[in-house]
Amino acid sequence: MPDLFPDSASVQDGELAVGGIPVSSLAEEFGTPLVVYCRESLQARARAYREAAPSARILYSVKAFPNVALLRLFADEGLGAEVSALGELEFALRAGIPGDRIVVDGNNKSDEEIRGAAAAGASFVVDAPDDLARAQAAGIRGDVLVRVTPGIDAETHDAIRTGHTGSKFGLPPDEALEVIRQGGVTGLHVHIGSQLLDFGAERMTVEWLAAFAARCRAEAGWTPRLVDLGGGLGIRYLADDSRLEVRDFVRALVASTQDAWRLHELPEPELILEPGRSLVGDAALTVYRVGVVKPLRGTTYVAVDGGMSDNPRPQLYGARFTAALAGRFDEPTDGSYTVCGKHCESGDVLIERVALPQPRRGDLLVLPSTGAYTLGMASNYNGVPKPAAVLVGDGDARLIRRRETVEDLLALESG
Ligand code: LLP
Repeated sequence: MPDLFPDSASVQDGELAVGGIPVSSLAEEFGTPLVVYCRESLQARARAYREAAPSARILYSVKAFPNVALLRLFADEGLGAEVSALGELEFALRAGIPGDRIVVDGNNKSDEEIRGAAAAGASFVVDAPDDLARAQAAGIRGDVLVRVTPGIDAETHDAIRTGHTGSKFGLPPDEALEVIRQGGVTGLHVHIGSQLLDFGAERMTVEWLAAFAARCRAEAGWTPRLVDLGGGLGIRYLADDSRLEVRDFVRALVASTQDAWRLHELPEPELILEPGRSLVGDAALTVYRVGVVKPLRGTTYVAVDGGMSDNPRPQLYGARFTAALAGRFDEPTDGSYTVCGKHCESGDVLIERVALPQPRRGDLLVLPSTGAYTLGMASNYNGVPKPAAVLVGDGDARLIRRRETVEDLLALESG
């Protein structure tokens, strides 16, 4: 299996295949750009979570890629869903996920979202001083957790760090305790950030949370029955990114929670985890068709038929990706290329520099690790329809999201 590519990736006669299907066949049948999800990888990640934390509730963080077929696949593996907007809730319900396996959070929930959570029988995360009263008025039946801000700076991009002092998410400890005193809260929630590849900040967070739980017991006579540690585990995008396996991360999380709770002589809580990226991120790759290849002094641009509209991560987070030519996977590289998109701005660069065999018009260029926060964050910039997504496994490919058409875009127009 080539490094960074999904579990079922293989090279057959020099061509990359996923789920037993050559990438060229996928491109021919479904067109490009195409996001290809590997069933084997998705199941392996879900099982790794379940096996490392058998008594925890594992909830797929739907924002990583809202998709009914993936939600169904995860539901079959015993997972639930964490949702932070009405649309995500509807995706989870449409996939048949029962309300008692859904947690609704968000820093600014609308009345409609709170009513939706109540109707679904979902659990609810209090993120604002008036959230508890609003949830109780709406008749929330599930668990109610309070999200606290621990004041811990996770090592990741500023835009996706959430546990620091001054974060828009959660309540500082004093305010959280005020909410707990009002009654009806069953658990605590914390999420310090995303794309974490070091366990240090998570350990600090768990220790901080246990100390906060002990404070709740001392000052309010209340202990959490449930503890939701959010998501955050990162994936590898480049060959030299550090590796933190799901299994090791989750085992460490479970063990450090048990230790910290024991230290404060608190009753062991039920755990909830909300992984997004680490379930779907490295389970997919994006297939593009190479168009213009433009050699300039200093760099050669390789333009593909998508770009910042289907993957805004390089621009938003300075995210780095690698690429390969699917049809000439084993060919030696002959230089360094800049992969750009087809959009009307110079910032539309997917990869600044990547070693490839000389790309030619018509080649299929693949970017691995594009399963999370790509299609789910896609736009229609330049009136470009969003790509399709397929699920592959055992020689079979199934469309799980059809390609948008210009007609779809025009259907929204009026007047
Ligand atoms: N739970 C909560 C409350 C969250 O806010 C998030 C992600 C997760 C769970 C899932 O985190 P994960 O396991 O995926 O790290 N668009 C950004 C990532 C934003 C993450 C937002 N919250 C990116 O492309 O890097």
